[in-house]
Amino acid sequence: MVKRSRILGCGSYLPANVVTNRDLESRVDTTDEWIVQRTGIKARHIAAEGELTSDLAVAAATRALEHAGVDAGSIDCIVLATTTPDNTFPATATKVQAALGTKGFALDIQAVCAGFVYALSIADNFIRAGQATRALVIGAETFSRLLDWKDRTTCVLFGDGAGAVVLEGYDAPGTSADRGVLSTHLHSDGSTYGLLYVDGGPSTTGTTGHVRMNGQDVFRHAVSKLSSVVEEALAANGMEPSTVDWLVPHQANQRIIDGIARKLKLSTDKVVLTVDRHGNTSAASIPLALAEAVHDGRIKRGDVVLMEAIGGGLSWGAALVRW
Ligand code: ACO
Repeated sequence: MVKRSRILGCGSYLPANVVTNRDLESRVDTTDEWIVQRTGIKARHIAAEGELTSDLAVAAATRALEHAGVDAGSIDCIVLATTTPDNTFPATATKVQAALGTKGFALDIQAVCAGFVYALSIADNFIRAGQATRALVIGAETFSRLLDWKDRTTCVLFGDGAGAVVLEGYDAPGTSADRGVLSTHLHSDGSTYGLLYVDGGPSTTGTTGHVRMNGQDVFRHAVSKLSSVVEEALAANGMEPSTVDWLVPHQANQRIIDGIARKLKLSTDKVVLTVDRHGNTSAASIPLALAEAVHDGRIKRGDVVLMEAIGGGLSWGAALVRW
């Protein structure tokens, strides 16, 4: 027997305010047609003034706990992936801990759009090492706060939201037929730091800064790096692409997602898509998509779910999970 972690439940939260491409046409020199053709995005949710990353995280985590049917008091670890913490410190996860009444320890992790895969991997490792028994893994972002609303090349791409899962350790036979996290695969390459970054920070400018991106280079890296990490995840479990029931990708761009699905020869009805309605919500995008597909009945017990994501760093990764 080996220690594994399985997902007991999931939940998500989106701010009420929806901003469509048409709304953005009056703010920057862009068109609905350009945004849809280049990215597949039609709308995104934007947090209200005073609505914080911790508020989104608490709402998503509360729904995940309800879905899992467990009390907050039984959680002994929170790993919160965010690029937009409430404050530079302490960890936003500690605020979430206090609001929910969870025990143990709570930390934030920063891997931008790859954040949820990183957080899942970290929590899974805590559980398998015996340092935690039940964990909340959250991706939560108020990414709109990092946008330069005069820069049409970036401000049309992103949105706000949060998603969460409850992970629990159990003793499993140790085969790829086990339920839960089968494997996670993480990579980063700091030599590409300048392709996608925020031009501020506590140690550089003392300001928060705005997102800056070389879109074409990021696109090129995204397709090749995601394809290879997905192959790595399947090979590690002796699985073929045809074994995958659901691809739940980071939702940055429809064209990147289509490229990965094509390489895997996965039909589009096996790909969970939210990018059209959510835009790129960074670390929140995978758990938002996951919660949608679980709650509408697409993802069922026993299904093989492949998650993949890439973001600033560049940092990227994949997770293979049997639901
Ligand atoms: N509206 C209208 N025109 C625009 C806009 C806009 N919002 N933004 C850029 N343009 C213009 C450019 O100025 C350029 O005009 P020019 O030819 O007169 O100079 C033209 O459109 C083409 O610009 P490109 O940058 O070449 O457009 P491209 O086809 O590469 O699409 C995009 C840009 C959508 C950003 C694409 O490169 C991309 O998706 N890259 C991946 C980046 C990404 O997804 N990042 C998210 C974070 S990382 C991650 O999550 C994977």
